[in-house]
This record gives sequence, C-alpha cells and structure tokens, in this order.
Amino acid sequence: MKELIDLSNLPRHIAVIMDGNGRWAKRQGAARVFGHRNAIKSVREVTEGCAELGVKYLTLYTFSTENWARPKYEIDALMQLLVHTIRSEIPTLMENNVRLSTIGSIDTLPGDCRSELSEAMRMTEQNDGLNLILALSYSGKWDILEATRKIARQVEQGTLSPDQIDEELFSHSLATDGIDDVDLMIRTGGDHRISNFMLWQLAYAELYIIENVLWPDFRKPHLWEAILAYQNRERRFGKTSEQLVK
Ligand code: IPE
Ligand code: IPE
Ligand code: MG
Repeated sequence: MKELIDLSNLPRHIAVIMDGNGRWAKRQGAARVFGHRNAIKSVREVTEGCAELGVKYLTLYTFSTENWARPKYEIDALMQLLVHTIRSEIPTLMENNVRLSTIGSIDTLPGDCRSELSEAMRMTEQNDGLNLILALSYSGKWDILEATRKIARQVEQGTLSPDQIDEELFSHSLATDGIDDVDLMIRTGGDHRISNFMLWQLAYAELYIIENVLWPDFRKPHLWEAILAYQNRERRFGKTSEQLVK
C-alpha cells in the first residue's frame, strides 16, 4: 500500500490526536496506564513512517492542558513514562534523522521531564529530516492566548501598531512559529472532535478519524491509509472545483 503513495503530494505537516489508550487497556481488563505503556510502539511507528516518506513535520498531541484534570496517579505515570521514553528513544530518533521539539506550557512539567526533553532536543538539533513536535501541556486556546499576550506586550511597548497585526504576524507569534499549518490531522479512537488541539493551525487541515483503531494498535499501514485518503481529497481552500489547476 505504501507504493501507492504519491511522494510529490505528501502532507507537509501531519498532526495526530493519539486517543484510546485507556479503552485499549480496559478491553483487556488492565489499568489505563497499561494502555499508555503500549502507546510507545505506535509513536515509534508513526515517527518512522513519516521519516521514511519524507514528511517535514509531525505533531503528536501527547498531553493536553485539560489532561491535568485526570487522577494524580495517572498524570504521574504519564510523566514518568515520558521521562523514560524520551531517553530510550533517542537512538531511534538519531537513526531516522529526526529533530525533536515541543510546544506547550513546558514550565508546568516536572523537572526531570523538562531536563530529559532539553537533553533530547540538544542531541537531535543537528538532524535535518523529520521534525517531531511533542504537544505537551498544550491546548489550542492556550496557544492563542499566549500569542495574544506576546503581541499585546509589543503594542504596549510601542514596537508594534495594532494595524500591523495580520495573519502572518499572528501565526509567527504562536508556539508553532515557522512551522507550516497542518495538512492532515489523524485521530484514532473514533471521536469526531478536535479536543482543543491546534485551533489556528488546523484551519484548513483534512481531518481523518479512524473509527475502529485505538492508539496502541496504530501501525504504519494505518498511516499509509490516512495519507492515501488525504491524497484523494480535493483541497479547495474556498475556491470552486473548476478553479483548481491540477
Ligand atoms: C490518549 O488516550 C492518551 C492521553 C490523553 C494522554 P486516553 O488516555 O485518552 O484513552 P481513552 O480515550 O480514555 O481511551
Ligand atoms: C486528547 O485526548 C488529548 C491527547 C490525545 C493528548 P483526550 O482523551 O484528552 O480528549 P477528550 O477528553 O476525549 O476530548
Ligand atoms: Mg481519550
């Protein structure tokens, strides 16, 4: 199926809502954390898959602002898992020429998590293949509010006039500064919602919801299928079909 993908028409930026770990664990009578542990293999698959094809940006919704409202033991387990995984996955990132970065309110993460992340980012900063962006303590509304504060401060200082605030300036003020908007958004677990993910950056993304696959079961063939579906969509960006030059 991978051979059917048109490499000249790849989504430049894929974003994934990795949902369904808890349900996956529950189905086999295990605790939710068991599902999170089994999600790592899926993260590796989607990362390698994107790197193999030559996708430029992959953003993974790893922990949302709202996820802080989960039971403390689940949050602690997720943070611990993150610490261990970042360290153990560095060889995979290096082999695949992947550069790691983050978006979100990183200051709110535990100290060991932050230090593992900065170490991994430092180690991979020379890689120039896929950019893997982990959205951690992230939400779309948080991102928009932070950007607004940044812009308001510049106006207050007199270095920016309100008339200069346009789409380009605003998008450069977001956490995704310099990164193209999302072309393809994949969500596993069957829920048809954005869950406060990248609200601005998803404005014209093609949405691909996988109804019957929970995140721990996600493998490369699911990625190929999503990209093929994307390539069969007509992205009109408000124009008529006839206006599109093929
Ligand atoms: C996604 O799986 C992982 C995180 C949100 C951290 P869930 O933990 O939301 O699993 P479900 O949706 O409850 O099955
Ligand atoms: C979205 O999943 C957040 C992540 C995958 C990190 P949730 O499970 O938190 O979303 P809702 O609550 O079902 O919308
Ligand atoms: Mg969920």
